[in-house]
This record gives sequence, C-alpha cells and structure tokens, in this order.
Amino acid sequence: MQTDYTSNPIGIFDSGIGGLTVARAVAECLPEENLIYFGDTAHLPYGDKSTTSIQAYSIKICNFLLTQNCKVILIACNSASAAAYELVKEYVGSKATVISVIEPTIQYIEQYHQQHHIGLIGTKQTVNSNVYKKKIDQLNQNITLQSLATPLLVPMIEENFFSKTIQQEIISEYLSHQSLEAIDALILGCTHYPLIKEEIKQYYQTHKKTVQIIDSSERVAQTLKKTLEDKKITNINNQTTAKTGFRNFYVSDYTQSFEESAKIFFGQQIHLALYPLWD
Ligand code: DGL
Repeated sequence: MQTDYTSNPIGIFDSGIGGLTVARAVAECLPEENLIYFGDTAHLPYGDKSTTSIQAYSIKICNFLLTQNCKVILIACNSASAAAYELVKEYVGSKATVISVIEPTIQYIEQYHQQHHIGLIGTKQTVNSNVYKKKIDQLNQNITLQSLATPLLVPMIEENFFSKTIQQEIISEYLSHQSLEAIDALILGCTHYPLIKEEIKQYYQTHKKTVQIIDSSERVAQTLKKTLEDKKITNINNQTTAKTGFRNFYVSDYTQSFEESAKIFFGQQIHLALYPLWD
C-alpha cells in the first residue's frame, strides 16, 4: 500500500549537531511529524566557510533529503540559510517546500518590532552575508539592525565550558559591544545560541536593560506548523492516531563526542547514524 504524501518526512539539515536545537523545537511543536535530520559534521563549522562551499554542501544534502522523499526541507543552519536559501529553493523547485531559519524571524520582527532597534549575533558567514539587514531594510518599517559576529560562542557552547566565569566573560564582552548598545531586541542568529539563552537574559537583567530575545528555532517551528496547515500537508495519519513520528538522525562524520553533544542540543538521548555522503 502506498503511503500518502502527508506522512512524508520533514528534512532538516545543519552544518553539524547545533541544528538539533531547531529539530527539538520542531519535534515539540509537531510531535506527529516524521523527521530526518542531517548534520554535516564532516564540514563543520559552516560559519567560517565561503558561500560557494556552503552552497555546494547544501545542494548535495538536499539531494539526499529528496531521495528520502522529504515534503519539506528546513535549513536549520543560519550560515547555510544566509548563503544558500535562494539557490536551494530554486534547485528543489516543486519537489519539496523549502524553509530557511531566517525568513520566520524577519516576519516576526515585521509583526512585533516596527520602528525598533534590533541586534543580531551570529557566525561570520551569517553577519557578513548581510542577509538579515537586506531583508529588514526591504520591510521599510523604520527598523534598524546592528549585527555582530560572535565566533567564539560556537566553540564555547560545543565544549560545554566548565568555567562559568569564562562563559560569562565571553558573553559579556560580546553583548557590551558598542554596536549592540541601545537595542530593543536581540536575534539569536545561530543554531547554538538557544543553549545560552538564559545566560544572555541574565546579562541584560544584570545590566538593567530590557531586550527581548528572539530565538529563531522557536520562530521557525511556528512557521513550519503554519506552512504545513496552509498547504494541508500535516501528517494526518499520526495526528488522528496521536502517534509520534519517527526521528532519524544522520551525520556525515561520526565521533562519540558528537553523540554526547547531540543529547545536550536535542534535550534527550538520540542515536546518530553515520551517512558518509561525501565518499
Ligand atoms: N549551524 C551554524 C549556524 O547556525 C553554526 C555552526 C557552524 O558554524 O557551522 O550558523
């Protein structure tokens, strides 16, 4: 018997395991959906890579997700969203719906932050691409954007820094940067940053500043839900039987330490399967 299209999985990809924060938000918001996650651990970090390389990696990963019959391809990685969203959308065409992690955040800002000063922290690739700025300027809502590349945060989070003092100092050094002065809201423009959301909030509380934290993983999960509903491709089979969807996690390079970190990013123990896409 042929299964219907709505039960096809949602493909999520990232440069590595950080995108599991997005997969986690999606799994919480849409428990009935089947998920296939691909982390390109063989090439991480994307944040320091050229646009051309990220585009090439992204297309190859999309090919893999298309062979898995994904109905949606969600680019969980901010750096890949900045470098390859338009290309991936064009490449995938009508075979699947492509969602990036950037658009949902922009839509949210348009709705709730008109005339505000917004800050953005992310990788060098995300910040230097200027994608957020271009999209915010296109809104024509008198919104200003100040961006700061914060490259030390990814390794800091991945190493799960044992010293709280060092962590606080790095966060404080970045957030006190003059370019982020006088902002009303801060976009967490990287897969890893939801893990230090509380520390970031703490920083602003200590400095008696009211800054709303915009977590792109939450925004993208909401947008995905709405997209599935609008397109009528929500997994109805599982929805009616209240069944949880399957979750398959693949990585292009496997180490025990990825598996251990995966638990922290996804919030529960998961198994990473090696899929050597580049062999
Ligand atoms: N996933 C990347 C992002 O969201 C961060 C890690 C990396 O640089 O690969 O930009």
